[in-house]
Amino acid sequence: MAKMWAGRFKKEADSRVNDFNSSISFDSRMYRQDITGSIAHATMLAARGIISEQDREQIVDGLTGILADLDSGALLFDPDAEDIHMFVEAELTARIGDAGKRLHTARSRNDQVALDIRLYLREQIDEVSALVKALGSTLCRMAREHTDTIMPGYTHLQRAQPITFAHHLMAYAGMLARDLGRLADAGKRMNLCPLGSGALAGTTYPIDREMTASLLQFDGPVLNSLDGVSDRDFCIELGSALAAIMMHLSRFSEEIILWCSWEFKFLELDDAFATGSSIMPQKKNPDVAELVRGKTGRVYGDLMTLLTMMKSLPLAYNKDMQEDKEAIFDAIDTVKLCLSTFRPMLATARVLKDNMRNAAAKGFINATDCADYLTKKGVPFRDAYKITGTLVGICVDRGLTLETLPLDQYKALSPVFEEDVYKAIDLTACAMTRSSLGGPAKEQVLEQIEAAEKVFGEE
Ligand code: ARG
Repeated sequence: MAKMWAGRFKKEADSRVNDFNSSISFDSRMYRQDITGSIAHATMLAARGIISEQDREQIVDGLTGILADLDSGALLFDPDAEDIHMFVEAELTARIGDAGKRLHTARSRNDQVALDIRLYLREQIDEVSALVKALGSTLCRMAREHTDTIMPGYTHLQRAQPITFAHHLMAYAGMLARDLGRLADAGKRMNLCPLGSGALAGTTYPIDREMTASLLQFDGPVLNSLDGVSDRDFCIELGSALAAIMMHLSRFSEEIILWCSWEFKFLELDDAFATGSSIMPQKKNPDVAELVRGKTGRVYGDLMTLLTMMKSLPLAYNKDMQEDKEAIFDAIDTVKLCLSTFRPMLATARVLKDNMRNAAAKGFINATDCADYLTKKGVPFRDAYKITGTLVGICVDRGLTLETLPLDQYKALSPVFEEDVYKAIDLTACAMTRSSLGGPAKEQVLEQIEAAEKVFGEE
């Protein structure tokens, strides 16, 4: 196929250059955005008298027909077309003749591609946000069922203090709420229209950039034409928001993997969301969680690709920037895939409450509460800490727990101890009396759930 830019050249491009240069295999997914942008551009050109009303009509009809044919599969992408922009324009010209050749007046592929990506990513942000919200709602629903489910909270992966499963889940809800905020923020900054920047230096035609911006539901035009075509911050910001989502999913996945192990057994995955081994008949593996954890690296890599691609690029457009699409598309596809599989895996898992409770009973996670008991009776916290540490040491030596250690042993270390110490170190009481704002006490977690449901919606 003859190149649209063939005029200046005496030779056809080498076939290897054609293949190397071509982006249609991955930018064809923006065909709808490309056509929508072109319709807005043609509408503006006609409104400003740059093309005739008749040309506009033909262009809009032609583009609408192409869109319908691409949607239905009646028209296939030509792999020889350099990119989606060239493909649509060539197809339009083949269909409507000269009017099609007028579409590219006062426009360059540089502002066209910058527009298409923004339009595409804007929609994708909505899709990813909906998936994040769905996961958030699932967390809230599960948390409501587990406000009394005692489990050990950990630091250094060592049992630390008693919490509830609901409290643990709501920590992830907090992360997802921030993820939503980051997505919205990236979407807001992205929502300026680069169309009309031209190749880099605007145009001599009397275009109306405010009009195209508003036709395409942008908040306004990008103010500097060089910036309009050379900026890919919006890919990087979105890439970074997506990387943070994966970071959260990978932490959650790691915990799920641990919880499914015989060592923990806090959770049992539904058979439909687990996999077996080809050799070990007993195995039930948390492959989904492992893959989510593994795919996190890809999304980090995509972000790094984008950052590195943009590093030191002189203004304005450079072909390096064509590499933006595969990276950001991969990041989006991966995050969507992970969110859509992770949510039902979590939602269908069986929570093994008794095992959580038994684990909480070991590991002296009520030691802080024992120290607090003394402190509340007037013993300075540091002294109380030391006394309790000694008690724990005694328990370890004798194979006891704080609950089973006889009162006289307590009293031997401090006369302040009374029978009511056992109530103070009762695991349920320990979790439920941690009623400081944000804590695991039931009423606190219920407040966290209510706040989160406002963000995510109810399941
Ligand atoms: N396929 C190109 C890209 O994705 C479109 C812009 C091409 N512009 C140019 N001056 N070669 O970046």
